[in-house]
Amino acid sequence: MWRNRVHLGDCLTVLSAMPADYVDLIVTSPPYADARKHTYGGIAPDRYVEWFTKRAIEMLRVLKPSGSFVLNIKERCADGERHTYVLDLILALKREVGFRWVEEYIWHKTTAAPGKWKYRFRDSWERILHFSKSRDLKMRQDAVKVPIGEWTQARLKNMSANDRTRRESATRSKVGRRIANWEGKRLVYPSNVLRKSPVAHNTGHSAAFPEWLPEFFIKLFTDEGDVVLDPFLGSGTTYRVAKQLGRVPIGIEINPEYVQNTLTMGFPL
Ligand SMILES: C[S@@+](CC[C@H](N)C(=O)[O-])C[C@H]1O[C@@H](n2cnc3c(N)ncnc32)[C@H](O)[C@@H]1O
Repeated sequence: MWRNRVHLGDCLTVLSAMPADYVDLIVTSPPYADARKHTYGGIAPDRYVEWFTKRAIEMLRVLKPSGSFVLNIKERCADGERHTYVLDLILALKREVGFRWVEEYIWHKTTAAPGKWKYRFRDSWERILHFSKSRDLKMRQDAVKVPIGEWTQARLKNMSANDRTRRESATRSKVGRRIANWEGKRLVYPSNVLRKSPVAHNTGHSAAFPEWLPEFFIKLFTDEGDVVLDPFLGSGTTYRVAKQLGRVPIGIEINPEYVQNTLTMGFPL
């Protein structure tokens, strides 16, 4: 009754009825505080943490112990400064809800358009926060390797053979890496800065995910047949990508119009 379906409603209500330890991965981008008021409602920045925390308690409950929660979010500006609701939310998810904060990925939007703002420059990055339920989480690092590109040539050009094979850093900071281990390799693990375009291929939603985003995290944190949930489904990007990758998708969306759009793409309600 839950799997392979898009559920219409507030994710708080829908999740409350879902069995515990049911989902392998949650990938989502929630409504940002006060953003897009006219298209899908906004939550005042000062109420945001309280609003989100209630839903996050259910998200933690339905997640399997080996599961991950990936949250794409960026704080807006209010009264001429960055609001702290995302920072407050990270602390609340960790301290009040009980998630473990494993990593913060930066999504560097490579195609952000130039512009002029009084006290800031062009905003070209968003946070992608990775939380887990336990210390022992599922992670398939080999599934997301990237081409090493020109890194070796640029990095090794002026490096002595001794430098390539030592484990100590030159500054004795203890953060040295044995560079020689990676010479000749075609694929390496990515960094936590994801340099990617925001271009999405969905129509009918003002904040659709680009497909690479759910794809990267679904490959990283699940195997085929695992359950992937997006509790703020929007136009259904996570759902569609999860299905294409042989995972079992579940979507929740409060706006019947978006659900209708997803349905016209052939997904059952
Ligand atoms: C940022 S959009 C998600 C876009 C999505 N990642 C995509 O690729 O289209 C957030 C979505 O959450 C929905 N939403 C807002 N409050 C909700 C709630 N309480 N429960 C479920 N969905 C909600 C909005 O209608 C909106 O479509």
